This record gives sequence, C-alpha cells and structure tokens, in this order.
Amino acid sequence: MKNIVVVGTQWGDEGKGKVVDLLAPAFDIVARYQGGHNAGHTVIIGDRKFILRLVPSGILHDSAVCVLGNGVVVDAQALVEEIEGLGTLGVEVDGRLRISNRAHLILPHHRAVERISEERRGEDRVGTTMRGIGPSYEEKSGRRGVRAGDILNPAELRRAVLAARDEAAATLGTTEPELAIEGYESYLESAQRLAPFISDTACFLNDAVDAGQRVLLEGAQGTMLDLDHGSYPFVTSSSSTAGGACTGTGLPPTRVTGALGIIKAYTTRVGAGPFPTELTDERGRHLQDRGQEFGSVTGRPRRTGWFDVPVARYSARVNGLSSLALTKLDVLDELDSISVCVGYRTAAGSCSTIPSSIHDYGDVEPILESFDGWKQSTRGISRLEDLPAAARAYVEALSSYVGVEIGLISTGPERDETIVVAGGRVADWAGRGA
Ligand code: IMP
Repeated sequence: MKNIVVVGTQWGDEGKGKVVDLLAPAFDIVARYQGGHNAGHTVIIGDRKFILRLVPSGILHDSAVCVLGNGVVVDAQALVEEIEGLGTLGVEVDGRLRISNRAHLILPHHRAVERISEERRGEDRVGTTMRGIGPSYEEKSGRRGVRAGDILNPAELRRAVLAARDEAAATLGTTEPELAIEGYESYLESAQRLAPFISDTACFLNDAVDAGQRVLLEGAQGTMLDLDHGSYPFVTSSSSTAGGACTGTGLPPTRVTGALGIIKAYTTRVGAGPFPTELTDERGRHLQDRGQEFGSVTGRPRRTGWFDVPVARYSARVNGLSSLALTKLDVLDELDSISVCVGYRTAAGSCSTIPSSIHDYGDVEPILESFDGWKQSTRGISRLEDLPAAARAYVEALSSYVGVEIGLISTGPERDETIVVAGGRVADWAGRGA
C-alpha cells in the first residue's frame, strides 16, 4: 500500500503543483482534501503554462483519476471555468474527475460576506484571497451549508441556494452586487454542469485502495496557514496539514503510508500575519524577482525571507513528514551569502519553537546562521553530484536542521529541472527504485 500525502510546510506556494505533477504517473488517483480555488498550482510543461486552482495537478496525466474530496469547498462557476480552460489546452476531464457529494459549495454571497468582514477588520484584516473560502467553511461548521450532492436534485439545490441567498440578504441588505438574483441563476446553471462528476468519493477511494490502487492526497496552502496549527488568525479556514487529508477525503489514517513536505529553499507568505524571517530590503526584492513571487491566483506580490528552521521542524512534526522536496534552490544562485533562521530570540530568552499566539511574535528576532553562496547557476541541474559544493552544503544543512531527508530538489519550473535523490523516499514513491 503506497498512499501518500503531499503537504505545504510553510505558508503555501512552495511548489506543490510541480511535485504532484512529477509523482502523478506513479499513482492511480490524485485527491485534493481541503481549500478551494484560493489555491493556485502552476505547472509548466514545455511552452504551456497551466494554473490549476481546484482541479488536482494529476489531471495533466491521462492515467490519473482526480478527486475533489469532501473537505474541499467548490465554487461551481469557478470550477466550470477551470474545466473549460483545461479543455481549450487539450486536457479532457470527462470520466477523470470526481467531486465528493459531501463537498460544500461556495455561493455568490460568500464573497460579499468576506469582503465586508475584511473591510470591517481594517488594519487587522487577514488579507484573504476574496474567493469566499472562509464564509463557506463557516456555513459548513454552522450546519447551514449547501453541498455538492444537492446538485443531483436540482429543485432542492435551487431551494437551498436561494434560501441561503435570502438569509444573507436579510443580514447584508440586497444592494451588495454579489447578491443579485441574476448571479444566482447563472450560478445554478453552472452547478448543473457539474452533475456528472458528483459521487461518493470516500467510497470510491476506499474501494480503489482495496483493489490495490495508489492514492496521492494533494494538500493546498501550507502548514502555517492551517486553521488549527498555523499562525492563527492569519490562516485559511481549512485543515491543510496531513491530518486534514483523512477528514477531507474519508481515507482513514491507517491507509496513509507517507507524508512528503514541500519546502522552499527560502520562505514566502502572502497576506498579513507574522513572518519572523521577512526581508524588506533589496535582498527580499531580489528573491521576489528571481523567484517570480507573485500570487498565481491574485497576482499579489509575496513577502519573502530566509529559510525558517523552527517553522520547518514544527511542520515536520505536525505532518509526520517522511521526506522533503526542496524547491526553488536556483533562486538563491546569485546571492553572496544565504542566511538560515535556526531559532528565535525573545524577551524571555532564546527558543527553537514557534509561538502559538501571534501576540508572542511581536518581540521575536530570528537567530541567523550564514552560508556561503555558490554564485553559479544551478538551473536545470538534475543530478545531485552536479550541484556546486556550497549548494550541496546548504541542502545538507537544511536536512539536518529539520531532521528529515531531502528526497527531491527542484532547480527550475520545468518537469525535468529536478533532482530525484537516489535511494530517497521520493525515488521510491516515483517508482524509480529505492
Ligand atoms: P483565504 O484562504 O482566501 O481565506 O485566505 C486566508 C490566508 O491564506 C491569506 O493570508 C491568504 O493569502 C492565504 N492563502 C490562501 N490560499 C493560499 C495559497 O494558495 N497560497 C498562499 N497563501 C494562500
């Protein structure tokens, strides 16, 4: 049994899309377990660039069946647009995409609720993606949500969606543009187009595993954006850590055999909230430019900073990581020296773990260790032995700080700009021999 979860270890945007795309040929099913179209996975194949928001990156391989699990929130209009977009690029999803009948829908008023809530928070706003993610999960927890399974009963769907709209209108007033009734009519039309994809995916996944098929569980966002384990309240509204893969798909923990953490060779974050290793100077801008650190969904510039070992170690723990995929190593190629945060200095002394409360981040200062830069291109290197000595030393130091092997190193955005470390877990999972 080889079912793995692929999870972001930092604040998202670690490059999960590329790694899932690489591993997908060795798996029969790729399943998303949380989040919605707030995620943006960019996959570059030759001169074609795919930005996937909801559909798992496995869709780019003909052999993989893709699942949107019950933990995902689905904006029917956004998903129909994405399916159409994939069609124009020659990627057919019919018969290869399954949506859980238990997944909750994002409805038009969720965007209005989010916009107003963010405006009200003022300086304390989370800096969300404005896709209606949080309000959809709030209605789910409040037991008022509308689920994808309702699409199979159009009369019930219409009743439930319009009732939810009327309830929102009673609270927000009817003048919010997202509450216009025409918007709901076109939403209901889009929703009907998803009917052929809806089924009980928890049964499907468990039956598949019984039959010896392999499942890759694809996380969105990252550990520090997890609702429970992240930098609350500057988080997303779902369980992006490995545990969420079970509640978000119905595949039990006893059937998940490994966890791969995707980790950038430095750190980025979008939106507000604590970021102890942030660089607001020229070096930060250098990482932003070279790393093309602009949101693939919102276009927002990402904040950038040094690699943060306490964050990575915490992530290794809460996700039970078996291996790491280190991405964007080539972005560091031109730096004279590279710093790594190995702990924090606080008013109460130094520590090597992250604070649980954002109020304790205020006086946190990173303790930095410095590494020599390699000042030469690593772009496209595909064998570990071809990395410059200083780059290898950096990679080995990160692995030893975090206490987890590095099984894959990404040296560029293309599929083949990748080192799969011989003898590592990723080589095994990718079917390239242990
Ligand atoms: P939401 O998920 O739209 O509610 O946004 C909550 C927080 O998560 C914000 O800081 C977003 O910038 C962040 N976020 C959501 N999705 C992603 C992602 O795919 N990558 C990075 N940050 C994300």
